[in-house]
Amino acid sequence: MKALILVGGFGTRLRPLTLSFPKPLVDFANKPMILHQIEALKAIGVTEVVLAINYQPEVMLNFLKDFETKIGIKITCSQETEPLGTAGPLALARDKLADKSGEPFFVLNSDVISEYPLKEMIAFHKSHGGEASIMVTKVDEPSKYGVVVMEESTGKVDSFVEKPKIFVGNKINAGIYLLNPSVLDLIELKPTSIEKEIFPKIASAGQLFAMVLPGFWMDIGQPKDYISGLRLYLDSLRKRAPSKLASGAHIMGNVLVDETAKIGDGCLIGPDVAIGPGCVVESGVRLSRCTIMRGVRIKKHACISSSIIGWHSTVGQWARVENMTILGEDVHVCDEIYSNGGVVLPHKEIKASILKPEIVM
Ligand code: GDD
Ligand code: MG
Repeated sequence: MKALILVGGFGTRLRPLTLSFPKPLVDFANKPMILHQIEALKAIGVTEVVLAINYQPEVMLNFLKDFETKIGIKITCSQETEPLGTAGPLALARDKLADKSGEPFFVLNSDVISEYPLKEMIAFHKSHGGEASIMVTKVDEPSKYGVVVMEESTGKVDSFVEKPKIFVGNKINAGIYLLNPSVLDLIELKPTSIEKEIFPKIASAGQLFAMVLPGFWMDIGQPKDYISGLRLYLDSLRKRAPSKLASGAHIMGNVLVDETAKIGDGCLIGPDVAIGPGCVVESGVRLSRCTIMRGVRIKKHACISSSIIGWHSTVGQWARVENMTILGEDVHVCDEIYSNGGVVLPHKEIKASILKPEIVM
């Protein structure tokens, strides 16, 4: 079986992190977002993943080369010369996706995180016999997603409306599809939106079916959702593989600590924290609801909450970093600084407090 992951887009909503790496390579719970997906695909028997890319393909491929052998899956690239949207890339990769087997293939948005119930999806696809299956999930704020109106009992989709201005329902497209090769015949090789142009067509032909995704789901392409997504991911890890979570007197709730990270005495860490490889957390530090990426140093008595600390940054002693502060790669926050929602571009040194949410260039 094959899969295509849509890895284009500029990831502007996740800046400044995406100024250093393409969005799919931004770490989430201590590994690049896209690896969560590739591992899930491998686990259900996918043998080749096609990355639909429209910029920086070298960065992506170099990075994933190592994982190709480690995970044991073929990773290839399909590069656009102009952004082809969410459907055009399928036409471009047609020859890779539609092989002689006639088997359906998976398509994934690169920024969605869940338990990836892909086995269940294959069974669902077989059961309805339609051309396309999509996963849907319920959200409180459907207007920023693709909304699906479906028959509850059969899952048959009556209509698909991308980012509706008026309320049509609260079941939204989760960005995980299983498509028959025949769907490729509906897509031309030009910029095309699968949500606006293709799904409505398949739905009106009565061939689009939706399955309600079991478990949690989040599009982690924006800082606020990224931070909530980590909480949901760690909750789910607690149920599936609790031994992967940290434990001890200094740990509160769900915390993921890479085995190469060092944590000093008298820290209080959690809930909902991820500490990446090579990090050094000095003594007396307080961390909650935050992600500390690879190679970061947090100095004594610093306090970080609801924030993301980018690769190889440093937070000074007694500093307080909170309220959706996002530090890009290699940022240095001096001692005793306060950051209230600062969004700091890579390679900066912060010598004065940031008193209200703002971008520091
Ligand atoms: N190759 C390629 N080329 N990929 C692209 C392009 C392109 O031109 N444009 C976007 N993508 C990729 C993005 O990298 C992402 O993985 C995926 O397509 C969806 O794009 P987003 O920009 O993240 O869209 P969204 O979050 O606003 O909405 C989409 O996702 C929602 C679920 O998270 C839609 O599919 C909605 O219907 C859906 O509800
Ligand atoms: Mg998205």
